[in-house]
Amino acid sequence: MDRLIKIFPTPFEVAEYLAIEIINHINRNALNKHQVTIALSGGNTPATLFSVLGSHFDSSANWTNVHFFWVDERCVPPENPESNYGMTRKALLDKIKIPSHNIHRIRGEANPSSEASRYSREISSFTGSRNGLPAFDIILLGLGEDGHVASVFPGNEKLFESENKCKVTFHPVTRQKRITLTGKVINNSGRIIFMVTGKNKAEIVSNILSPGPKNKLYPASFVKPAYGTEEWYLDRESASFFKI
Ligand code: 6PG
Repeated sequence: MDRLIKIFPTPFEVAEYLAIEIINHINRNALNKHQVTIALSGGNTPATLFSVLGSHFDSSANWTNVHFFWVDERCVPPENPESNYGMTRKALLDKIKIPSHNIHRIRGEANPSSEASRYSREISSFTGSRNGLPAFDIILLGLGEDGHVASVFPGNEKLFESENKCKVTFHPVTRQKRITLTGKVINNSGRIIFMVTGKNKAEIVSNILSPGPKNKLYPASFVKPAYGTEEWYLDRESASFFKI
């Protein structure tokens, strides 16, 4: 399956386009009463998207038809500024009418290994499944400057072969514990959406999207849809080293 790559002048225009994409996806599925499962990433990039959705599209979709999950979470309580869930709650969840049981956060305050097991069970009970693995309708990914995706950092590429749905990992610099989806679950999603912006991502975007023969592989290099689509939404700055 070829990659879809769209480039926009600014991060805001990336966020606006993606917000409309997601709203249309939700509304298309609402017609046949399909509950849409969306796994969200954290970090700074998606915050713009969540703000656009929360401020301009809060009443554009039937949110009762949506179940939000997380791709990964820092092992901190929700009120900690590092919390991916906490950031999403402020930017989006507090601004839309969505039942609390439709929000499936990773409990960053819990014991990491028990939470990884609990969250794996929660994912399985709410998402569709394909090839015996949970299948999210949409998974929203960012890209680290080191090529990490979710909280699969360089050196942990074996997590793309793991039979576990979630694993505990460590940030390589801060040693902060994380809980992350593993690669097979990521690749099992219907739509794998990368949202990447900023000059600081230009080199890694080029390494991932147009690897030279000698280019080393990064965790993001292992993102390959098992059956769905791989879509990249970039701003001009993050795409500035990449020649389509
Ligand atoms: C996280 C994310 C992580 C993020 C990248 C990019 O928990 O931080 O899931 O994978 O997408 O680190 O982060 P920025 O968008 O902040 O550059």
